[in-house]
Amino acid sequence: MRTPSLLLTVLCVATISLQCLDATDDDYLSGPKKVTNILFYLHNTHSGKDPSSVLVAQNANATAHAQGFLPFSYVYVYNDLLTEGPSSKSKVVGNAQGMYASTAKDGNTILETIDHEITDGPFKGSSFVLFSRNPFMLPRRELPVIGGRGAFRMAQGFAYLRTVCVNCVNSGNPSKGDIIEYNVTLFHY
Ligand SMILES: *[C@@H]1O[C@H](CO)[C@@H](O)[C@H](O)[C@H]1NC(C)=O
Ligand SMILES: *[C@@H]1O[C@H](CO)[C@@H](O)[C@H](O)[C@H]1NC(C)=O
Repeated sequence: MRTPSLLLTVLCVATISLQCLDATDDDYLSGPKKVTNILFYLHNTHSGKDPSSVLVAQNANATAHAQGFLPFSYVYVYNDLLTEGPSSKSKVVGNAQGMYASTAKDGNTILETIDHEITDGPFKGSSFVLFSRNPFMLPRRELPVIGGRGAFRMAQGFAYLRTVCVNCVNSGNPSKGDIIEYNVTLFHY
């Protein structure tokens, strides 16, 4: 007779906690309702006096693979600007804070975690997070959205990344840097 009474207790606890939810919380029970597509360009500069991306750690014996771009084990921290268009003179719409590590022996894939905060428009103050490996030499990469804050609370989704240019210099930004297009689809409440 112990099992049914235990089951009853569990059911009661579940019922009480459901009653405690308010109307806003109830929204989370029926699944994401909104789909938002955001397109922006990330500017990652790694030269000059004030780079947006810096190398913070590496294995003492790390050497670049013959065909590789980044030696295995390199860890970078970055705070990059996000703009509306590909030019660095384009309107700033947010910023990304994150880290990436060169996790592939061939030096052509990074593992990255990035929080993108939107600072303009209807999603101002909201952010979403990507976490995934990124085989950055491919023309198009897909990274998963694993969560968010504000309007993007509990968001899921996916982002297509495309490299616009590598080590490019333009009039708006004298430092050399990479520009990456982010096409993000978010499923949220
Ligand atoms: C680098 O390689 C040497 C020689 O194999 C080894 O003794 C040393 O521990 C290695 N250093 C690191 C940080 O892995
Ligand atoms: C962005 O991604 C969406 C959804 O995958 C797609 O429909 C749209 O054409 C893409 N836009 C650009 C500019 O690539």
